[in-house]
Amino acid sequence: MIDLSASFAGLSLKNPVLTASGTFGYGREAAELYDLSLLGGVMVKGVSREPWSGNAPARVARAPGGMLNAIGLQNPGLTHFLEVDLPFLRRYEMAVVVNVVGHDVEGFVDVVRGVTGAPGVAAIELNISCPNVKDGLLFSQDPQSARRLVEAARQATDLPLIVKVSPNVTDPVELGLACREGGADALSAINTLVGIAIDPARRAPVLGNRTGGLSGPAVKPVGLRIVYDLAAQVGLPVVGMGGIETGRDALEYILAGARAIAVGTAVFRDPYAPPRIVRELEAELERYGFDSAAQAWAAANPQAREAVS
Ligand SMILES: Cc1cc2nc3c(=O)[nH]c(=O)nc-3n(C[C@H](O)[C@H](O)[C@H](O)COP(=O)(O)O)c2cc1C
Repeated sequence: MIDLSASFAGLSLKNPVLTASGTFGYGREAAELYDLSLLGGVMVKGVSREPWSGNAPARVARAPGGMLNAIGLQNPGLTHFLEVDLPFLRRYEMAVVVNVVGHDVEGFVDVVRGVTGAPGVAAIELNISCPNVKDGLLFSQDPQSARRLVEAARQATDLPLIVKVSPNVTDPVELGLACREGGADALSAINTLVGIAIDPARRAPVLGNRTGGLSGPAVKPVGLRIVYDLAAQVGLPVVGMGGIETGRDALEYILAGARAIAVGTAVFRDPYAPPRIVRELEAELERYGFDSAAQAWAAANPQAREAVS
């Protein structure tokens, strides 16, 4: 029997498999297919203070080995989340991680404060890395503004604070270090990579937003590289994501230094992917001679490594 539990940054997960923000809504569709208690947890779609309507269509486009999206963080806002979505998710035995977005520090902090103390919230994930809204990368492009945002969020909550750092920067490690300085308990990576799809017939970009975020198997090597470096250089636990479709992918992320992983785009092809990946990860751990997920992470010993970039 393999021990899949994962404990880090004040979070205790029964297994290290989460769902990535924005690809799983607030869990309702998946709950019609399987018991959400099979998961380690859910990272919910970004929650903003007021409802956001998102970007003009088209919002998704095909890409080799994945997809481009420019949803623009459409969501019904904090009050709806607290009154409708959170009570639904609380029925399941798994960790609810609330992904928070805002246009400015106050916008982020109001949501952080709003969900702190709400029963059933296990942790907060600050999304400072959305490439699909006008000011989405504002806090990633300058590590010091990231630090100030994290500091303000830190003062507003005692919940575990995970910061989702951007891959669309020259040095994700520098950004991660600034988030640590600001008081982050953990990091998550990667968000999507900025790209464009062109429609020859219209002689224009496919997406209404022109650019979109690339996700899916195509981004896995980039995700592994960034997780590898963050785990080695920042000294905070990392939740790894980017192109995870199988238990083997999940194990690779754990061996790159992730304490837990999240499944995103894979659910569009296989809605059952998250619980399948839990089972497959267990088999992969056994296959490679590990007794537990924690042992695999420790065997990789990320803190003793040198960064690769
Ligand atoms: C349609 C879509 C919507 C997303 N929405 C969010 C979001 O609201 N907040 C966020 O932090 N990340 C969002 N992401 C990024 C994912 O959480 C994840 O970081 C990224 O897609 C990489 O993982 P994947 O390749 O497994 O999808 C979104 C991704 C997709 C494809």
